[in-house]
Amino acid sequence: MFRKKTVRDVDVEGRTVLVRVDFNVPIQDGRVADDTRIRATLPTLNYLLEHDAALVLASHLGRPKGKPDPAYSLRPVVEPLAALLGREVQFATDPAGPDARAKAAALRPGQVLLLENTRFDPGETRNDPEFARRLASLGQIFVNDAFGTAHRLHASTVGVARYLPAVAGFLLAKEVETITRLLEAPARPLVTILGGAKISDKIKVLHNLLPRADRLLIGGGMANTFLAAQGYRLGSSLVETPARETALVLLDTYGDKIVLPVDLIVADRMAPDAQIRRVTVQDGVPDGWMALDIGPETVERFAPFIREAGSIIWNGPLGVFEIPPFDRGTIAIAHLVAESPGFSLVGGGDSVAALRQAGLADRIDHISTGGGATLKLLAGEPLPAVEVLEDKA
Ligand code: 3PG
Repeated sequence: MFRKKTVRDVDVEGRTVLVRVDFNVPIQDGRVADDTRIRATLPTLNYLLEHDAALVLASHLGRPKGKPDPAYSLRPVVEPLAALLGREVQFATDPAGPDARAKAAALRPGQVLLLENTRFDPGETRNDPEFARRLASLGQIFVNDAFGTAHRLHASTVGVARYLPAVAGFLLAKEVETITRLLEAPARPLVTILGGAKISDKIKVLHNLLPRADRLLIGGGMANTFLAAQGYRLGSSLVETPARETALVLLDTYGDKIVLPVDLIVADRMAPDAQIRRVTVQDGVPDGWMALDIGPETVERFAPFIREAGSIIWNGPLGVFEIPPFDRGTIAIAHLVAESPGFSLVGGGDSVAALRQAGLADRIDHISTGGGATLKLLAGEPLPAVEVLEDKA
């Protein structure tokens, strides 16, 4: 249950609302390459506009170093955002400086102002109270709809809430509610699929998911470390030697839930034109070769669990997805997840990219807009930007 106030719990009519959005979108040749995160905020933005608010939108983009850097300007977002909202979007050339102040003060209900990248100010990532106060002075109510940034303790996500009534937008509420429900009261069996390079990145997620899940299917680099801990030969594959002990403890405690690859696609180097072959884990990876994807038998082994799942949580690719043909395992899993009747939640850039590439994104029940924020929730940890919002009465 989401216990924080949302935009529905405040009167926004005639007010200027400062909305933190996550417009940290990929920019290529000065244009927005993927507008998913922009579209995801439309329910909140349209609701506020329909209720006669004026909007001041704040976001970061990339990781500039606390000063203006044209490569990270939010200006390319203006045009696609205006097209999606069907109205003009003004742009302030600073995040909370003279231009932002003048343009915010002149806003009338129904008008929209996008601020320049909040990380152009050194106060943003430091959660500097002075920068937070300047940002807050641009609006009368604070709405946070930036789920993707909710794990960051920054001025525009946490600091501003000290100065304004602070409530959640629909995207933030939906993301937190969906993920929390899957963790607390999932339709069973709950099948989790974890991939990605390292166990150490997801150690807290493993500890939080394993007691709750009925099955944990593991692929990607993470699986190598589990297999190495069991004594299989991994050749030159990525293996996190310090994490082998952790892998053994997890196998000891949850061995009946953990499902590991039974075969692997191995290559003599990490390149599209590498020599490749399939090996069983029993045979092991030859010296000088590396495991870069799960094999077809592994997909077959994972398939019944995914088909029979009541709920699925999937995070991380099962192979080196960005270099075909090592994307095949991930794409096969994407098909299985899309076809499963269970409620599916997918988070993390590469797993979501695999779904989009395969044209399956609209067959997933919930695609999370968060990366780090989703992992933090899956790890059972609170999100600082959610904690500071007002509680529902
Ligand atoms: C993300 O893309 O995960 C969020 O926008 C947060 O970005 P950050 O990792 O640079 O804080």
